[in-house]
Amino acid sequence: MNPKINSETVFPQKLNYGLDAPTFQRCALFCGLAATILGTLAARWAQQHESQFVLNCAIPVAWAGLSFFLTGGVMFWGSKVGKLHLRDKIIASIPWRGDERVLDVGCGHGMMLLAAAKQLKSGHAVGIDIWSQTDQADNNPESTLANARLEQVAHRVEIQNADARSLPFPDCSFDVVVSSFVIHNLNQAADREQVIREIARVLKPGGQLAIADIRHTGQYERTLRSLGWMNVQRWFPNFLFVTPTRVLRGVKP
Ligand SMILES: C[S@@+](CC[C@H](N)C(=O)[O-])C[C@H]1O[C@@H](n2cnc3c(N)ncnc32)[C@H](O)[C@@H]1O
Repeated sequence: MNPKINSETVFPQKLNYGLDAPTFQRCALFCGLAATILGTLAARWAQQHESQFVLNCAIPVAWAGLSFFLTGGVMFWGSKVGKLHLRDKIIASIPWRGDERVLDVGCGHGMMLLAAAKQLKSGHAVGIDIWSQTDQADNNPESTLANARLEQVAHRVEIQNADARSLPFPDCSFDVVVSSFVIHNLNQAADREQVIREIARVLKPGGQLAIADIRHTGQYERTLRSLGWMNVQRWFPNFLFVTPTRVLRGVKP
């Protein structure tokens, strides 16, 4: 599916790879800041009025607010800066020929999809998504295609509406499958396993896999090993989104 684009369509002029978990980030930043300020003001008031009870309440509120605010700040940096560095490392770890067929599972605004498309000379990059607004702000295929135009790879990119649990592609149809910060959004372990099985199914033998996620990468590795994948590694964790983000790299046997 390519979204409707006509001469009236206005494309953004600036690349935007989206804000992840926007409600949580905004809440952490604004509520965290508010609690820090309120807690600090209340602590000062308590000192002036010698109220031990208010002081005992105000100090934990100020510290909790500050840690919440810092969590939001780290996540904002991770969304806007940190994950682009991680993307570059992942893309550099794949031995590109230039003629690959690439799939990005849960492409969102196309961060991995378009970086992969830039490695191609004659290949094709497909992004699928369900466009959740909870997982990424202003998530829609038009924004992804606008980014593709800005990155000058629109002619190599295709977007489809699809659920990662049921990929609408034949077995062994991709040379490379990438996915970043997607699969943890599925709460049920069985659903996450299903996604990994689907990814393994659509990859060609010898195909390259790269998954970055903030949780459950151990489960993804176990599922791949149960499917006979021996060539699987998990990278050392980083803390772009506060919780440990790990990259799973593998080659389909
Ligand atoms: C945090 S965003 C990450 C987007 C992009 N991969 C990136 O790194 O910028 C998670 C994405 O996963 C998508 N997603 C969540 N559940 C999905 C599912 N079951 N199938 C396909 N996409 C899904 C969301 O719509 C969202 O675009």
